[in-house]
Amino acid sequence: MDDIFDTMRTRVSRRSYTPTPIPAEAEAKLLDTIQYLNNKSNLHIQFVKNGEAAFKGFKKSYGMFTGVQYYFAMVGNKSDPLMYEKVGYYGEYLVLVATELGLGTCWVGASFDKEACKCDIFANEEIACVITVGYTPNSLSSREKLIASMVKDKGKPVEDLCDYDKQPPEWFWKGMEAVRLAPSARNRQPVKIKYYNDVVYATTGEFNYNKIDMGIAKLHFALGAGGSFELGENGRFIKDAEAI
Ligand SMILES: Cc1cc2nc3c(=O)[nH]c(=O)nc-3n(C[C@H](O)[C@H](O)[C@H](O)COP(=O)(O)O)c2cc1C
Repeated sequence: MDDIFDTMRTRVSRRSYTPTPIPAEAEAKLLDTIQYLNNKSNLHIQFVKNGEAAFKGFKKSYGMFTGVQYYFAMVGNKSDPLMYEKVGYYGEYLVLVATELGLGTCWVGASFDKEACKCDIFANEEIACVITVGYTPNSLSSREKLIASMVKDKGKPVEDLCDYDKQPPEWFWKGMEAVRLAPSARNRQPVKIKYYNDVVYATTGEFNYNKIDMGIAKLHFALGAGGSFELGENGRFIKDAEAI
């Protein structure tokens, strides 16, 4: 990836899309990335085109999203206890790849019509959420700004996002800066990154969205600090391993 912090700073949730189609080359890159991530994670992420039905005429999304044509359907195996965390970790990687391609994105857990989603959900699977993707106007419209202010709580300072028993090394703070830039449901930033006995791990609440937020925060930390993060409640950060 290019400078990862530039990409993370460029990414903000976008809820209005232009009709410009995603060109074949960018689509191929997204499809390759999805295949790679599905192989790694055992998720069943799908790229959906002509997907406007999931956002039109649905009261929960009324006025929130406009012009959605494309989204990633974040589908996975119901019996996998790490499914929601994987959705966050691997899905956010896809978000950052899309951002590098100049596309706008938004994680959507609630304001879409699950029933109208055009994707395959096999017997043992469920859809955790979708991520809208596509071209957007250059800057946020005043409507988008208003919606963002409604669904985005004020961000927390880095100090509120971590705990430690002694002053952590410099790379830890790079990881934390990346966590600060990570999206989370309603921007609640419910994940704590802990540094105790020279080990980095993460904790959060029990809700499924908390688990997605935890996967997203771990991926940001891994990319920012330079390493990989094991999934699961006791998962540890491994410095200098491949993030994905
Ligand atoms: C798991 C998850 C679910 C989300 N669900 C919605 C949603 O249903 N509707 C919506 O408008 N935004 C949704 N968002 C986007 C958040 O509101 C947004 O990421 C947060 O306010 C931070 O803003 P930013 O992404 O611009 O940094 C969701 C984000 C996450 C991570």
